[in-house]
Amino acid sequence: MTDWQIFHYNTVGSTNDTAKEYSQTATDSFVITADKQTAGRGRRGRSWVSLDGNLFFSVGLKFELKNLGRLVLLSSLSLLQTIKSLNLNADVKLKWPNDVLLNGAKVSGMLLEKGAGDFMVVGIGVNIKHSPDSAQMLYKTTSLHAAGIETSKENFLNLFLQKLSENLDLQQQNGADFVRLKWLEYAKGLNEEIVVCQENIKSKGIFTGIDENAALLLNTDQGLTKILVGDVFYMSDKDE
Ligand code: BTN
Repeated sequence: MTDWQIFHYNTVGSTNDTAKEYSQTATDSFVITADKQTAGRGRRGRSWVSLDGNLFFSVGLKFELKNLGRLVLLSSLSLLQTIKSLNLNADVKLKWPNDVLLNGAKVSGMLLEKGAGDFMVVGIGVNIKHSPDSAQMLYKTTSLHAAGIETSKENFLNLFLQKLSENLDLQQQNGADFVRLKWLEYAKGLNEEIVVCQENIKSKGIFTGIDENAALLLNTDQGLTKILVGDVFYMSDKDE
């Protein structure tokens, strides 16, 4: 089991930046949390709206850069399992690459960045109490509270760190494919038609799976393509 050292701040720019700074002198796994972020960052250059009462934290741990994809899968699976542990019947799904959907809407986001030396930084935002207005966002959003799941930030973080430790151990024992297969059990839209938006390209195809590096496998008219970075849109969401 990993022993996490937790450092809490009232206000930071971004917990990822504080974690990257701390990783320069860290020797073991650690966690940075903050009540407020003044410059929360999201994927693909977007910002992360850091509403009061929500959870913002960054985990620093040693992980080989070449296995980054596995860390994405481990972390998002652990988040989903944390929500399930609070409500076994919660309708939770994983959206490639690393979002968790609750009742079909985004409840958390994750930003992985390289820290100093061997450290990787996994920054996570969880909508515990509030969610940003869906109309202003690329996707529908929700919070645990809106779905009737009441918990504190502290409780959620502790449950998550426990799940992450368990999954890191399971991966050691059973190999990386164990996590990939588990992730796919909860993937939204598997074997369905999706659209993936990359920088200037929109690709439509059947979402057939993910590979060992967590790349999305999309079966398009041009054949099977591997996608490393992008935003997924489900055709099934179109009419809502
Ligand atoms: C996304 O879905 O675009 C990723 C959002 C990641 C947000 C979290 S909040 C804690 C950590 N600090 C940041 O600045 N970003 C991540």
